[in-house]
Amino acid sequence: MKDILQELEERRETARKGGGERRIEAQHAKGKLTARERLELLLDEGSFEEFDMFKAHRCTEFGMEQNRIPGDGVVTGWGTINGRLVYVFSQDFTVFGGSLSETHAQKIVKIMDMAMQNGAPVIGLNDSGGARIQEGVDSLAGYAEVFQRNIMASGVVPQISVIMGPCAGGAVYSPAMTDFIFMVRDSSYMFVTGPDVVKTVTNEVVTAEELGGASTHTKKSSVADGAFDNDVEAMNEIRRLFDFLPLNNRSKVPVRPFFDSPDRIEESLDTLIPDNPNQPYDMKELILKVADEGDFYEIQKDFAGNILTGFIRLEGRTVGVVANQPMVLAGVLDIDSSRKAARFVRFCDAFEIPILTFVDVPGFLPGTSQEYGGVIKHGAKLLFAYGEATVPKVTVITRKAYGGAYDVMSSKHLRGDFNYAWPTAEIAVMGAKGAVEILYRSELGDPEKIARRQKDYEDRFANPFVAAERGFIDEVIMPHSTRKRVCRAFASLRDKKLENPWKKHDNIPL
Ligand code: HXC
Repeated sequence: MKDILQELEERRETARKGGGERRIEAQHAKGKLTARERLELLLDEGSFEEFDMFKAHRCTEFGMEQNRIPGDGVVTGWGTINGRLVYVFSQDFTVFGGSLSETHAQKIVKIMDMAMQNGAPVIGLNDSGGARIQEGVDSLAGYAEVFQRNIMASGVVPQISVIMGPCAGGAVYSPAMTDFIFMVRDSSYMFVTGPDVVKTVTNEVVTAEELGGASTHTKKSSVADGAFDNDVEAMNEIRRLFDFLPLNNRSKVPVRPFFDSPDRIEESLDTLIPDNPNQPYDMKELILKVADEGDFYEIQKDFAGNILTGFIRLEGRTVGVVANQPMVLAGVLDIDSSRKAARFVRFCDAFEIPILTFVDVPGFLPGTSQEYGGVIKHGAKLLFAYGEATVPKVTVITRKAYGGAYDVMSSKHLRGDFNYAWPTAEIAVMGAKGAVEILYRSELGDPEKIARRQKDYEDRFANPFVAAERGFIDEVIMPHSTRKRVCRAFASLRDKKLENPWKKHDNIPL
């Protein structure tokens, strides 16, 4: 008996060593942690329960039968983050470069199936050379099995991908179908084809970092939702994000103890809006002053800065925030900001996270680059996402709400539950200058007349009261009481029930 127990210990020891000391050292030398070290940081201490530690590949090509390493390049199982259940896989680059074999895929598929059955999120730590070359189509089949699970799990349990090393070829498509992708700066990259193939096919010379590093994907392509400086920071930040998320699409948002009065008054908000309507101000200040303890987890911070998206808590409960940012491009809606916000709104709606929208938007960005890029379809994504969302929706217009963008930004007409405006709000088809130039074109030669026309337009439309008279604005509120009003609004909506008509699925303009 004792021998058998010892054998188990020895087998475990071998499995834990993965590809061996030399490769572990090489991993550390690159500034990367091993698959198991990462899980230790991600999960609550002692909570990790492993599956399939001894599972090995069955490939007999290229001498692989002589080279079988228990675990086959991925550590899978479940554990907890601050006491809440999560399923995880962590690819082990020290074993065949973390490449995905048939058995490696089966291990991932097993925990994904369990996650769906048990209603808990999946976090994947990706560090892999892609398809296991020696296995050929078996490996490709394995990927497709994972992809299918990603698709089925979408909207059922949150899926988070962290890219912590190479992620190339078809391997990028599993993360691409998850809810969030995060990368580690300088040690991770994602691309469909690497720099060598790019050079052969297009003659372009590009480094792996330029082609698919964290900077590229957080700032240019928007494939990634955020980037961290190293593995430790990444694991800490994923824990922080996890605390905001519900476990599945049928559970409510998590509730945490909070130490911030819902009645907190913020006098400084009464002077947030500058006297000059063309002067910007930082919308983030409003978000931080409304949020419990000023805690805001921003998503896609480095992309389309003209709109802010992320999670806060109000009275301990998660709320998704979407806010135009006047500091960047005057907060205009364009292709990038519409796409960014639409995806965020859809995530919130899929997982029953209420949405708070702060509006200061001068309209859609005009121009050929926008039209040629399809701003009509991309803008419609945001319109569609808000309109189909059935979660509680509270909107506060702080300043401009012009034109189509007024409609889009969670207006009353798109089933906004509470639509508030500050007294500084201007709700109109367009700004006074543009309006007068169109309506009084014949008077443009007379600056005095035009100035009077402009003043007249401002007096009549540059305020929230016309909309309030029609009931499109439920109430004009004092800026200093925004947190209190918004908290009360969401509290009253906790049992909101609203259903869309039955359909197989919608046809959002992709
Ligand atoms: C089997 C692999 C492997 C792979 C790496 N290794 N990739 N084994 N299949 N795909 C092994 C190496 O042989 C090596 O083994 C160990 O992992 C570490 O690899 P190195 O090359 O020494 O490491 P490094 O220099 O850091 O380079 C990492 C790398 C490179 C950039 C990922 O290994 C690489 O380019 N690999 C191939 C990437 C690729 O083309 N994959 C297929 C993509 S197509 P030893 O024993 O020496 O430690 C694809 C299709 C999926 O994925 C389609 C789904 C639809």
